[in-house]
Amino acid sequence: MFKVFVFDDYEGVSQKAFEVMQEVIKQEKVTLGLATGSSPVGLYKRLVEAHKKGLSFKHIQTFNLDEYVGLSKNHDQSYYNFMFEHLFKHVDVNLNKVHLPKGEGSLEDVASEYEDMLQKNPQDIQLLGIGSNGHIGFNEPGTSFDSTVHVVRLRDETRQDNARFFDSIDEVPHFAITMGIKDILRAKKILLVASGQNKAMAIKEMLEGKIREEVPCTILQNHPDVVVVLDKAAASLIKHD
Ligand code: GLP
Repeated sequence: MFKVFVFDDYEGVSQKAFEVMQEVIKQEKVTLGLATGSSPVGLYKRLVEAHKKGLSFKHIQTFNLDEYVGLSKNHDQSYYNFMFEHLFKHVDVNLNKVHLPKGEGSLEDVASEYEDMLQKNPQDIQLLGIGSNGHIGFNEPGTSFDSTVHVVRLRDETRQDNARFFDSIDEVPHFAITMGIKDILRAKKILLVASGQNKAMAIKEMLEGKIREEVPCTILQNHPDVVVVLDKAAASLIKHD
């Protein structure tokens, strides 16, 4: 079930997302599912500010959605580095309790170990952005709804969307390792944030489209608790009553 909130701009989106996340963080023992990309940056900024005012992350463990294959932890554009720079280094989270799938080594082993940890530690909340093609995590169109942690070949449009973070498109990895759809759906609550016109079609499909593997985000219609926080542009194609 979706609860949809629409704000004028990205700041409004980030503030609402922060409030939802903060409620969960205040609980006693918390497992957060975290995401990368531009969409959650404003939320992370607010979490860091809240930490300065006393919000603690000591009791928290985190599991990120995905990582690029072939980038070491310390690479500028690795998702580990993204999380470290935007959140982990600024708060009192125990770094032994933050988890991302590793994009190096025996990926089969990485995938099965990560899957095992996820099954034992269901997320209290899973934060999601959304790809312009409707992907969640790095679950590209056509991914099985039964998928668990796996390696994916990134679509051209996804590599292009993410090329802005790299010096050139040639440097964007072709593969990633990601939580599967089944892992995402295990979360008690899902918080999806999106802003900008290029997300409008994916958002319309997610809320109103037929549930199908060609558009991965449509499966969220089957989850009991999805909070969707949008700016006006991302919400521009949604039907109004
Ligand atoms: C990447 C990530 C997704 C993210 C998407 C949208 O593909 N793997 O988790 O949701 O980008 O990113 P952005 O928020 O930068 O638009």
